[in-house]
Amino acid sequence: MEAYQPLSRSIAGKVAIVTGAASGMGRATAHLFASEGASVAATDLDQGRCDAVVQEIEEAGYPGSAKAWALDVSNPDAIKAVVADIAQNLGGIDILVNNAGFAIPADIAEDSYEQSWEPTMAVMLTAHQRMIRAALPHLRKAEHPRIVNVASTEGLGASPGNSPYVAAKHGVIGLTRGLAVDLGREDITVNCICPGPIRTGITDGIPEEHKTIYAKRRVPLRRYAIPEEVAHMTLSCVLPAAGFLTGAVIPVDGGLTIKNA
Ligand code: NAI
Repeated sequence: MEAYQPLSRSIAGKVAIVTGAASGMGRATAHLFASEGASVAATDLDQGRCDAVVQEIEEAGYPGSAKAWALDVSNPDAIKAVVADIAQNLGGIDILVNNAGFAIPADIAEDSYEQSWEPTMAVMLTAHQRMIRAALPHLRKAEHPRIVNVASTEGLGASPGNSPYVAAKHGVIGLTRGLAVDLGREDITVNCICPGPIRTGITDGIPEEHKTIYAKRRVPLRRYAIPEEVAHMTLSCVLPAAGFLTGAVIPVDGGLTIKNA
């Protein structure tokens, strides 16, 4: 029998870009990656909110392990400029986490449907491929290049009144699978996380009693998750040891998607 091969579970020294890092799962991912020794580019719409997360990370005991960049992922020129700047400043890119997003309801019967469709597709689908294409030249030089796309359980099924979001998240799963196939020969892994109900900015406005009713009715674990629980799955996908995981679509949903009744 061949000798047992210990594989690395460390991202120390890796450079990671996280989009939507000022809140929720992006913020938790930035914290976790920094605490694991990575150099984190924390990007979000607003410089001040990114700076605040970087300061939190410093105060948590990881000075110098995160830097802030304002980046609106619906702006293709900004993506090119910021990704290039991050690579130059941090010395390359090993890991990309496409996480930025929002939720706006959309009723197909209303004229406002179109106003929700365009930004939803731009931020939660088109931006993923643009971030990946901008990061690719740098990922190609990395030793263990990793891409994680954050989709949703709305990429596996559909809740009512939300169809642009549902379409974008289904698209993220398709993009993940397509690029896992295309980039496999270069040893670049592309995986997708599908969070269920998580306590973040997006779900903040849902009253607590509605959260409880929903969780007890729909989620086998009978609760919303905290964003850190998703961040840990993202970390698992980007480890050097995760080298044979690609094209995976991973629900982190307390069992939501496997429950029938
Ligand atoms: P959040 O609201 O706490 O964080 C999302 C971040 O994305 C915010 O800081 C926001 O400023 C940023 N963002 C929005 N538009 C942006 C843009 N154009 N450019 C750059 N940044 C932008 O929400 P959460 O929940 O942490 O969202 C992260 C991802 O998780 C999203 O893709 C969301 O669709 C997904 N998700 C969330 C679930 C939940 O229950 N909270 C469930 C399933 C998926």
